[in-house]
Amino acid sequence: MAAPRATVATNEVDLINFLHKLCVFALLLGMMAATFAANVPSPATHGMVVSQSDIASHIGVDVLIEGGSAVDAAVATAFALAVTHPSAGNIGGGGFLIYRPANGEPIAYDFREVAPTGSHPEMWLVDGEYRFQRHHMSHMAVGVPGTVRGLHLAWQDAGKLPWKRLLEPAIELAEEGFTIGHGLARSLQRGLRRMRAYPASVSQFSKNGEPYEAGEVLKQSDLAASLIRIAEHGSDGFYKGRTAELIVAEMQANGGLITMDDLAGYEAKKRSPIVGSYRGYKVISMPPPSSGGIALVEMLNILEGYDLKEEGFGSANTLHRMTEAMRRAYADRALYIGDPEFNEGLPVTELISKTYGNKLRATIRLDAASKSSPDTFTWPAESAETTHFSVIDAQRNAVALTYTLEWGFGSGIVVPGAGFLLNNEMGDFNAGPGLTNPNGLIGTRANLAEPGKRMLSSMSPTIVAKDGKVLMVTGSPGGRTIINTVMQTILNVVDHGMNAQAAVDAGRIHHQWLPDTLYYEKHGFSPDSLRLMRKLGHQLEERQRQGAAEVIVVGEGNMLQGGLDGRVLDGGVAGY
Ligand code: GLY
Repeated sequence: MAAPRATVATNEVDLINFLHKLCVFALLLGMMAATFAANVPSPATHGMVVSQSDIASHIGVDVLIEGGSAVDAAVATAFALAVTHPSAGNIGGGGFLIYRPANGEPIAYDFREVAPTGSHPEMWLVDGEYRFQRHHMSHMAVGVPGTVRGLHLAWQDAGKLPWKRLLEPAIELAEEGFTIGHGLARSLQRGLRRMRAYPASVSQFSKNGEPYEAGEVLKQSDLAASLIRIAEHGSDGFYKGRTAELIVAEMQANGGLITMDDLAGYEAKKRSPIVGSYRGYKVISMPPPSSGGIALVEMLNILEGYDLKEEGFGSANTLHRMTEAMRRAYADRALYIGDPEFNEGLPVTELISKTYGNKLRATIRLDAASKSSPDTFTWPAESAETTHFSVIDAQRNAVALTYTLEWGFGSGIVVPGAGFLLNNEMGDFNAGPGLTNPNGLIGTRANLAEPGKRMLSSMSPTIVAKDGKVLMVTGSPGGRTIINTVMQTILNVVDHGMNAQAAVDAGRIHHQWLPDTLYYEKHGFSPDSLRLMRKLGHQLEERQRQGAAEVIVVGEGNMLQGGLDGRVLDGGVAGY
């Protein structure tokens, strides 16, 4: 036994080589582990936040660790995203929050922007001619923001930590700055082009007009001051006083419509969520003014009559059935849905009923694609921006929150002295009465601009429960594609048995009735399936990517799985 030890000990060169190799091996292992940890969903036992900003996700989880509720974490994450993800994270926009407490009834918070008092159905016309610029790229395109009231309302109902505490991290990020990631650097470069007309925007988001690069630090001192006013005065710190005055001054100087009364009078609303069932799972999603929950449940009701598990993920049979369900639900979306307060008798109960789902399924031929009509019609352009995040806390309370400025960086207008971007959400209203035409204008009544009205949305924050417990929190940006993306994350988990990350990674399709085109993600499906789909008569078009779903699934052993969407950069799963 002594001899070999002596051999090793006396052979110093070998020993040094051996130790060196060991160190290199250990270093490599360490590097691999670090990469692994960054790219793979990290299971957690207590709580989790998944968002499009790694910094914001960690801020949310810090709140959970400190004893905050899922709603507290959502509020802190949302304010942090307004700093670190300015293309869609916001205080100058609006959105929706679905809260499902572990015990009690789920609730939908609607903080969608509203049309200012001076709005009217023909506001996008000049001498009878529709003006795109006015509708989407002007001060008139700014709706009264809802985010701050919505977050404050949800916190008043279900927050545990002090309001100020939830704003502190965002204030610090805005004041001290944060390191710009590759995703933000890229989007700022693009966004800067539209901001050129607005000096306060150029000054906040560039180095004297030169785009920031990844790795540089972005400080936003005016934004920090606005956040401090919100921290000190609650939502009135935004809707009244200095911040409100700065918004109104910008409006008055540039033909915008928002007044002090519009701001002071803005109300976030609590609504009953859309609740459906799918193969014994409960699906809880957003009611009007979002079209998301209704269309989602309508599609799931149709698909429940097929054995998608047996047909398999990505098979032509599955894709065909999904496409036909999408076509039908999006036609109903266009026909019926708008702000419920302005559209009496929306046929919500009928649209989400199993009977109606069965009726629609009976119209689907399994051997041929249906035709959408009118053939020539296309929808107006809708931005793929917006952002979604998911939260679950240790008690298994869950929040799904999707909010937006409409286009990336919204209107591109930073309020001078207030440091935040204004939305261009009025662009989600229809173009004008009777203006439906083959070029994609829509003139149906349900979604025309009117004072105090909320514009139609596709945002679909959704929570899935099984046997009285939360199973999944999901949502995505992507304009009209949102509803289909969210549905596919659910099918991937429920029918195809995927974990959170696989469900997010899997290829996506999108059909929206008109144009009669099935979009599919590049590399997402086998050429064989796509060939069979063409044979059935579907018109196919390839897309680089669709959406950015940020998902949590409660897996085996009550472990939380994070599904982070790698289609976009800078996001993060944080759990503990
Ligand atoms: N602005 C995108 C949406 O509300 O769906």
